[in-house]
Amino acid sequence: MSDGAATAYQGIYDASLRDPEGFWRDAAAAIDWVRPPERILDDSRPPFYRWYPDAELNVCYNAVDRHVLAGRGDQPAIHYDSPVTGTKVTLTYAELLDRVSRFAGALEGLGVEKGDRVVIYMPMVPEAVVAMLACARLGAVHSVVFGGFAPQELAARIEDAEPKVVVSASCGVEPSRIVEYKPMLDEALRRSSHTPESVIVLQREQSPAAVGQRDTDWEEMTWDEVYADAPAAECATVAATDPLYILYTSGTTGKPKGIYRDSGGYAVALRWSMANIFDVAPGETMFTASDVGWVVGHSYIVYGPLLTGATTVLYEGKPVGTPDAGAFWRVIEEYGAVCLFTAPTAFRAIKKEDSKAAKLAEHDLERFRALFLAGERLDPDTYEWASAALGKPVIDNWWQTETGWPIAANPKGIQLLPIKPGSPTVAVPGYDVQVLDGTGEPVAPGVEGAICIKLPMPPGTLPTLWGDDDRYVSSYLSAYPGYYLTGDGGYLDEDGYLYVMGRTDDVLNVAGHRLSTGSLEAALSGHEAVAECAVIGVHDELKGQVPRALVVLKSGIDADADGDRIKKELVARVRAEVGPVAALHQVDIVGALPKTRSGKILRKTMRELADGHTPAVPATIEDPSVLETLTPVLRSAPTS
Ligand code: COA
Ligand code: AMP
Repeated sequence: MSDGAATAYQGIYDASLRDPEGFWRDAAAAIDWVRPPERILDDSRPPFYRWYPDAELNVCYNAVDRHVLAGRGDQPAIHYDSPVTGTKVTLTYAELLDRVSRFAGALEGLGVEKGDRVVIYMPMVPEAVVAMLACARLGAVHSVVFGGFAPQELAARIEDAEPKVVVSASCGVEPSRIVEYKPMLDEALRRSSHTPESVIVLQREQSPAAVGQRDTDWEEMTWDEVYADAPAAECATVAATDPLYILYTSGTTGKPKGIYRDSGGYAVALRWSMANIFDVAPGETMFTASDVGWVVGHSYIVYGPLLTGATTVLYEGKPVGTPDAGAFWRVIEEYGAVCLFTAPTAFRAIKKEDSKAAKLAEHDLERFRALFLAGERLDPDTYEWASAALGKPVIDNWWQTETGWPIAANPKGIQLLPIKPGSPTVAVPGYDVQVLDGTGEPVAPGVEGAICIKLPMPPGTLPTLWGDDDRYVSSYLSAYPGYYLTGDGGYLDEDGYLYVMGRTDDVLNVAGHRLSTGSLEAALSGHEAVAECAVIGVHDELKGQVPRALVVLKSGIDADADGDRIKKELVARVRAEVGPVAALHQVDIVGALPKTRSGKILRKTMRELADGHTPAVPATIEDPSVLETLTPVLRSAPTS
């Protein structure tokens, strides 16, 4: 970057690392506190850090009430746009306040108090946002579970979060089918050892569910029943360090990690990021095409825009097929969105359908200023296509569920730095990003290593895992003492631009959705014919990665006679146990899996072979002939 261009960003970045407490004290002024922070950072118990340890606030108040009090009552807070149901509804801030405070009253009536958990398993409907904010209003802790997950995944989250109440909907609407949520919830509750006291179901006209018609250990009722006469609830005061939500994310094992999100640090960081990264001002409209079940949805469909007094778009549809590849442009035009935030895979889907961007030319994108992409690597082809089609900055940003907001980005709100395709640009103020080698030493520019963040991380990032400090330390902090391990590998160039090359662990990323190899392997191993299995993520033109399974059958099972049936059953099992988003279509039956002498399956080596590379075979391999036999199988074209 040129010296002149570097000035504004570099000055702010340097200040954020030189004096983090001063920097985040200033940023905290954008939030309304019940008790403003006097202490900024509690660093008395490393590696655990707490931001704003003596402050108190209510996040719902900051996201809703204060905007009504400031005269934004008539401004749209949410545009709900659902091409899959043919519905459009706009809620103003005043209407949102009414709905949120009444639903909070309904939850209170069911005994929900500060600190209680509420699991929300809902599609992209306004009630999902209302339920999240109602929890925040009471100081209760929500845990939203993505609708594309199957009962087993939902059960694991219910078991860990131990909710007092579960809020769900009768169904979700995918372009090709109605997804019945209620039977999945029933099955999850059957599998979970934890039983909530109450279950609330939003009845959708596309497919109402049977609610309260059988004997259950919990009370079942519809959204309308609890909401009808509910009194409005007031905002509870919570500590800045109290949890706002738990969001489960995939690790390498089958047990999801419950990311603990605090209240005050998150509110400050998101508000700061809306101005300084996304460049969205109060009163403007942001369109984030993701799902409230993912972190992008939590931060940039719900909390970021609403904490800012901006307008958010809640889009229940796809980038293509609802009805066509012009859907995003139509939404941007209709609501005057100043930016769009989505995953690169959505743009690959649009490009595939409308390679000349003819649909784009049909819309007036006058107010549109920038496209933000995250969730997976932005490949230079997709970058070039989107950039040429839009003629506006296309901004890659890199982060993860754990951090809650971007670690690396082009800080458009501060200044737009020159874009280098393939790089999410530079470390965001607050994040001391370093690339380390195996011994924990920083590597030279251009050399790949483990991307780490020096502790303490800025506000908004995870202070720990829900109920599991030990796992927090062992998963993220023990590899390099004093650093948070992101799990991604990559390098910094001479100009300080970061290049993220992919996960160094076995976490999968399918269409921007993070999935665990462990969950998929557990589903496969549960089949009676399977002796051993391994799942790897292989390159896919549209989805970035898709899972591929290699399975060893138990002795005595005839692969020639029964192989095809077993493969079909395995595909169906993963869909039923993990969910349709896992999108496993290719299963290969093999004689053995390559392992090290200590028994570790060589997934990375197989992944590299499947992607057409020639990896170095680890010296610790137990039997090199197993890998040789597998190579032609792995190199064969995908069948999906
Ligand atoms: N509830 C239930 N099922 C869901 C679901 C939900 N919320 N979301 C997806 N699914 C299902 C889909 O219906 C599909 O089922 P199918 O196998 O019966 O067709 C399956 O899960 C896979 O879905 P998806 O990954 O969305 O693939 P797709 O082929 O339907 O669409 C894209 C491909 C690229 C259009 C789509 O992946 C997309 O829009 N991606 C954007 C990514 C994104 O928003 N990421 C979030 C992080 S920013
Ligand atoms: P999630 O927690 O679901 O947001 O997934 C986070 C992971 O997605 C990261 O650890 C990366 O592997 C990947 N990821 C997210 N954004 C990017 C990006 N801009 N470039 C490369 N990888 C990304």
